[in-house]
Amino acid sequence: MTLTFTTEPAVPRPAAERSALLRSPAFGEVFTDHMISIDWQRERGWHDARLHPYGPLVLDPSAQVFHYGQEVFEGMKAYRRPDGTVVTFRPYANAARFNRSAARMAMPALPEDTFVAALELLVSADRAWVPDRPGHSLYLRPFMIATQYTIGFYGPSAAYRFMVIASPAASYFTAGAKPLTVWLSQDYARAAPGGTGEAKCGGNYAGTLVAQAQAREKGCDQVVWLDPVERRFVDEMGTSNLFFVYGRTLVTPELSGTLLAGVTRDSVLALAAELGYRAEEGKVGVEEWRADAESGALTEVFSCGTSSMITPVGSVRSADGDWTVGGGVPGPVTSRLREELTGIQSGTRPDPFGWVH
Ligand code: COI
Repeated sequence: MTLTFTTEPAVPRPAAERSALLRSPAFGEVFTDHMISIDWQRERGWHDARLHPYGPLVLDPSAQVFHYGQEVFEGMKAYRRPDGTVVTFRPYANAARFNRSAARMAMPALPEDTFVAALELLVSADRAWVPDRPGHSLYLRPFMIATQYTIGFYGPSAAYRFMVIASPAASYFTAGAKPLTVWLSQDYARAAPGGTGEAKCGGNYAGTLVAQAQAREKGCDQVVWLDPVERRFVDEMGTSNLFFVYGRTLVTPELSGTLLAGVTRDSVLALAAELGYRAEEGKVGVEEWRADAESGALTEVFSCGTSSMITPVGSVRSADGDWTVGGGVPGPVTSRLREELTGIQSGTRPDPFGWVH
C-alpha cells in the first residue's frame, strides 16, 4: 500500500534569520520549518502520513516510550551540490537498518519506499535549509516512538509514530579533522551478546553517557568500547565505527552483533577496495593496537559515522597506559578516504557505486 502524504505548510522563517542560522550551525540545535509524522496502530497499520510545521508534540505522560523505551532512530544527511541539486546518501541503506532496529525492539517495519519518500518530501519542502558551504549539510533524523497510552507492560506498544526532523549541520566534532584522543573503557560495556548493541535505539546511547563523561575527565574526546565478553577486542568508538590502517590494508571490527553496522563503515569498506587498498573485517585486539602502533606497523586509525564523517584518532589513553598512532597526526589514507567520500557526497567526485540519491 502506498501512503499519500498530506501537507500543511509552515510559515517559513524569514530568509535573513535562516541565513544567520545557517552561517555556523551548532550540530542538532536548529531545526527546519517542517517535520514528517506517520502513525501506526495495530488495527490500521500505517496511516495519516503528513508534512506539517515543526513544533512540540502533545503526548500523554503514559505514552510507552517514556517508560519502556521503545524508540529507534536513524541519522543521515542531505547535501547541496555545486550545480544546486540536493541529494541524500544511500537512504535505502538507512531504511533497511531502521527496520532491523525496529524488528529488534518489537516495533513495526516501515516500507522502505515510504521511509525514503518521507525524506524526499521533507528535504524538498525545506530545501532552502540545506547549507551550501563546503562540509556543511542538512542532517536528517528519522525516528519512531511507542505511543500507546498505558504503563501496563503487557508487550509491545499497540501504537507508534514515525517522524523525521531536519537540522542544518557543520561537522559534528568541532575540531573538524583534528585527531581525536580516545579513552579505552574498561569499566563499562556498551552491549552484550544477544542484547541490543546492533540496533540504533535511544537506550544504547543513554547507557554510554557515564563512560563518555569518564572519557572527558581523562582528557579524551571519545570512549572506545571493548567486546563485552573477553574485553580484549575493539568494538567501536562512541557513536562511530573504527578503522585500523596497516600501510595499504584497512581492518575494521567485524559485525559481531554488539556493534552498529554503520552505513559510512560499509561505504568505507567498498570505497577503500575501489581505491586499491585491501579492506577487511576482523578482530582487532587492544594489545595489538598498542604493540602495532608502537612498532609503526599500524600507521593510522580513524573513526567513521554519518554525523562525524571520517575523523583521525591520534592518541589512546587507558588504565594500563597511553600510546599514539602514526605520530598523532592525520595520516594520508584517512585524509584520502575523507576527501573521496565527501567528494562523492558533495558531487565533486564521480559516484561509481550509485550511492547518491
Ligand atoms: C549519527 O552519526 O548519525 C548518529 O546517529 C550519532 C548521533 C549520536 C549524532
